[in-house]
Amino acid sequence: MCGIVGYVGRSEAAPILLDGLRRLEYRGYDSAGVAIIAGDQLETRKCAGRIADLGKLIGKDTPVGTYGISHTRWATHGKATDQNAHPHFDASGKLALVHNGVIENYQALKDDMLREGNHVFVSETDTEVLAHLIGKIYDSSGANGSTPPQNSKSRLVAAVRAALQQVIGTYGIALVHRDIPDFLVGARRGSPLVLGVGKDENFLASDVSAIVAYTRDAVYLNDFDVVAVERDKFEISSVAGEGGKYEVSKVEFTDEDIKKGDYPHYMLKEIYEQPGSVRDAMRGRLSHEECTAKLGGLEMTAAELRDVRRIVLTGCGTALHAARIGEYIIEQLAGVPTEVEFASEFRHRNTPMTRDTLVFAISQSGETADTLGALRESRRKGYRALGICNNVASTIARESDGGVYMHAGPEIGVAATKSFTSQVTIMALIGLLLGRMRHLSTSEGSAIIDALEALPAQIEETLKLTDQVRAIAKKYASVNGMLFFGRQFNYPIALEAALKLKEITYLFAEGHPSAELKHGIIALVRPDLPSVFIAPDDAVFSKNMNNIEQVKARKGPVIAITSGACGERLANIADDIITIPSAPEFVTPVLSVIPLQLLAYHLAVELGRDVDKPRNLAKSVTVE
Ligand code: G6P
Repeated sequence: MCGIVGYVGRSEAAPILLDGLRRLEYRGYDSAGVAIIAGDQLETRKCAGRIADLGKLIGKDTPVGTYGISHTRWATHGKATDQNAHPHFDASGKLALVHNGVIENYQALKDDMLREGNHVFVSETDTEVLAHLIGKIYDSSGANGSTPPQNSKSRLVAAVRAALQQVIGTYGIALVHRDIPDFLVGARRGSPLVLGVGKDENFLASDVSAIVAYTRDAVYLNDFDVVAVERDKFEISSVAGEGGKYEVSKVEFTDEDIKKGDYPHYMLKEIYEQPGSVRDAMRGRLSHEECTAKLGGLEMTAAELRDVRRIVLTGCGTALHAARIGEYIIEQLAGVPTEVEFASEFRHRNTPMTRDTLVFAISQSGETADTLGALRESRRKGYRALGICNNVASTIARESDGGVYMHAGPEIGVAATKSFTSQVTIMALIGLLLGRMRHLSTSEGSAIIDALEALPAQIEETLKLTDQVRAIAKKYASVNGMLFFGRQFNYPIALEAALKLKEITYLFAEGHPSAELKHGIIALVRPDLPSVFIAPDDAVFSKNMNNIEQVKARKGPVIAITSGACGERLANIADDIITIPSAPEFVTPVLSVIPLQLLAYHLAVELGRDVDKPRNLAKSVTVE
C-alpha cells in the first residue's frame, strides 16, 4: 500500500526512482509519480494507472537531475486521478512532497489556510495540505531565496518539524525543495520509512526491497524521526528537535531473493518455496533431547510460560486464519484456553482480560495498521504482547515484548502463501513448547517433532499435485464462485481457500465449517456452484462425508481434498479427488492448504487475472 522512493547522489535519479517504484509494485497502488530537481526546475511527472504508464510519460521527456522523490499511491482521500497522484506541492510550487498514511485533521488545517487566502488546492488529498503547511512555515521563516543554502537546509527541517507537530494522523514522508540542492527530508509516524546508506549516495524508501539492489546498509527509522539526507551524510533527529539514536543494519536478503526467477508469478514461486520456508520456521527450534521446542525470542522464562492461563491470537486476513488454526493447535497440544480476535475489532473493544493472558500479534509484514493497533492496545493495558512477524525490521517486531520470526524470506505476491504455512508451523512450535511444560510426555513431544520434521518432504510431495489441480481449475473455469468447507483444524483452511480465491480470481467464495451447511448455506447449492471439502483422514472424516452427501443430493459438484484410504470412500461420490500425504491432524492444514493455493492460482491464470497485483488489494495495509 503506497510506496515511497527518494534518491540523492551522483547518478541520474529518474531510472533509480522508477526502478524502486517497480520493486514496490507488489504492495498495491493506483497511481504513481516522481519529482526531480533538474537544474533550477522542479520537474514532475505523475498519472493514474500503472508504473508502466508513468515510465512512458518519463520516457517522452526525462527530467535530468541527481535527486528526487517518487511515489505509488493507493487512494484514500480522493479518487485515483492524475491530480490526486503524488508528489504534491506547496503554494510556491517549489516544494514537492510524497506521503503514505492519513492526515486525520487535514480538513481543519486546510480550512485555516483557505481563510488565510494564499492557498489554492488542486487535489482532494490530505497530502497536498501537508505540503502547503510545510511550505508556508518554511517561507515565513526566512526571506525566500536570499538565505545561504546551509541555512535553508536547517530551516526546511525546522519547518517539517513544526508542521508535523500540528498533524494528527500517520505519515511516512519524503520531500525536496527546488532551492535546496542535493537535499531530501524524510519523516515517519506509523508508516514505515527506511534510509538506505550508500557510497556518495543515499536513499529513502518505505520498504527496503525498493533499494536493496543499490545498498544493503539500512537505518530503519522510528516513529517521530526526521531525517535530513545529503549525498554523503545524513542527520536524524526527532519531531520534537532532539538528536535521534540510530543503528545501521545489514538487510538480511539480497536483490536476488526478490527476483521471480523462472516462475511466471511471484505467487507461484512462493508456493514452491514452502518446503524451505517451513523448514526455516523450525530451524534450530526443535530439541530432540528435551522433546520440545525452543523459542528464545519469546524472552520469557519457563516459570512465566507456565503461568500463562490464556492466549489471545490476533491479526488480519491470512494471518488471522493462521491464528484460527493456532487456536485448535494450542488448545489441543497445551490445553491453554486460546481465543482469536480480528485485530481491527480487538483494538477497539473492551475485552475483559486477565493478568496471565499472553497476546500474539501475527503479521507477515509487521506493519498492518490494525494488528499494530491491537499490539499497542494490549501493551497499554499491561499485557505481555508478542509478535510473530516475517519482516525483522518491522514496527510490530520492534514494539513487541518479544516474539518469533518466520524467516520465510521476502513475500512479494499480494496473496499470502508461504507466510501462512510458516505461521501455522510456529503455532505448532508454541503448542509443543507450552504443552511440554504442562501435560505432554516425552514420547508425545517426540511424535510431534517427527510430524513437524516430516513436513518439508510432504510439502514437496503435495506440490506434485499441481498438474491435477490445473486440470481441475480448467474444468471449473466458467463457474461464478465456489464454496469451501472443512472441520476442526481444517475449518480455517476453508476460510483461507475462499480468501485466496476471492483475492486473485475475483470470484464469489465463502468458507464455512462443514456442519454449518445445513444452517442456510445449503440454499446456495446448485449444479454450477462447486463445493470444495477439506476432508482428510481424521476423526471427523465421516461427519464430512455426511455433508458431502447432502451437497451431492442437491446436484452440487464436489471437489474433495483428502488423504490416506479416505480417497476410496470418496471415489463414487466426489467429482474430483485430490489426495495429500497423511499426517497427524494438527499439521494437516500445512499440507491441505497447498492444493487450494494452487487451485486459486491456476484459476486466476485461466481467467487472465493479474495474479501478483490483484485489483484494489495491497500487500501491506497501513491504514485502518
Ligand atoms: C493484506 C494482504 C493479505 C494479508 C493481510 C495481513 O490484506 O493482502 O494477504 O494477509 O494484509 O497482512 P500481514 O502483513 O499483517 O500478515
